[in-house]
Amino acid sequence: MLKLAITGKGGVGKTTLASLLSRLYAAEGNTVLAIDANPDANLGTALGISSEELSRITPIAEMKELIEERTGGKPGTTGGIFKLNPKVDDIPDRFSIKKDGLRLLVMGTVKKGGSGCMCPESALLRNLLNHLVLRKSEIVIMDMDAGIEHLGRATATAVNAFIVVVEPGQRSVETARAVKRLAQDIGIKKCYVVGNKIASDADRQFITENLPDFELLGYISFNPKIAEADRKGISPYDNDNKVISEVKSIKERLEAISR
Ligand SMILES: Nc1ncnc2c1ncn2[C@@H]1O[C@H](COP(=O)(O)OP(=O)(O)O)[C@@H](O)[C@H]1O
Ligand SMILES: [Mg+2]
Repeated sequence: MLKLAITGKGGVGKTTLASLLSRLYAAEGNTVLAIDANPDANLGTALGISSEELSRITPIAEMKELIEERTGGKPGTTGGIFKLNPKVDDIPDRFSIKKDGLRLLVMGTVKKGGSGCMCPESALLRNLLNHLVLRKSEIVIMDMDAGIEHLGRATATAVNAFIVVVEPGQRSVETARAVKRLAQDIGIKKCYVVGNKIASDADRQFITENLPDFELLGYISFNPKIAEADRKGISPYDNDNKVISEVKSIKERLEAISR
């Protein structure tokens, strides 16, 4: 079962792509778990979950009682004694939101204190992510920022593919190169690229010329309907058919080359 992590520079379209792939896989009858691992979580809205429903959930990283109960350590502290391998297997079902064949789990983030913070909340998140990518029964799509070095090695190796989203510009391309170096350091084999906000052949050429070491999955056009969906607070999947066909071809390419 596919375990995907979507990463890249801020604003390039990670959440957009994560939502489109999640909705597409769910629409095809798969069991999909979408994971929001961003500091300012907004995948839920992009999936089409109502703000009312989203307001009822707390990111896992902020569940102080749960963290303490499971790890035996006080969240926000370091250096104390706590379990590095806390129980997590009931968390996805208890704390995710369901919508159509899809579930969303909001992880939240741990404030990074110094190098490689080892605190109760990061132990819980790490173990939870690892548990989720090792579960066989579902497709997992993670929306995360470029800070992939915080993934545990076990999690990183269980992820089949890292998709780096880029837009036609030097800054996001530089982030993609940095992500690839980090990925190699933590044992990730496959780094794919998706070009987003594409308006011309020159844009396509820019991406292939600047990222020759990446396997390209495809492109998403610059599309006012995507931005409009964001303004309306609805899913880009529910606002336009062109983008759905573009994402379908990205998905087909991904399946063809990760086989
Ligand atoms: N292909 C596109 N065409 C037009 N606007 C886009 C496109 N992709 C994303 N956007 C817009 O760009 C902004 C950032 O996208 P988002 O997916 O939130 O990026 P990220 O998650 O990488 O920060 C949003 O307002 C989104 O609607
Ligand atoms: Mg985002």
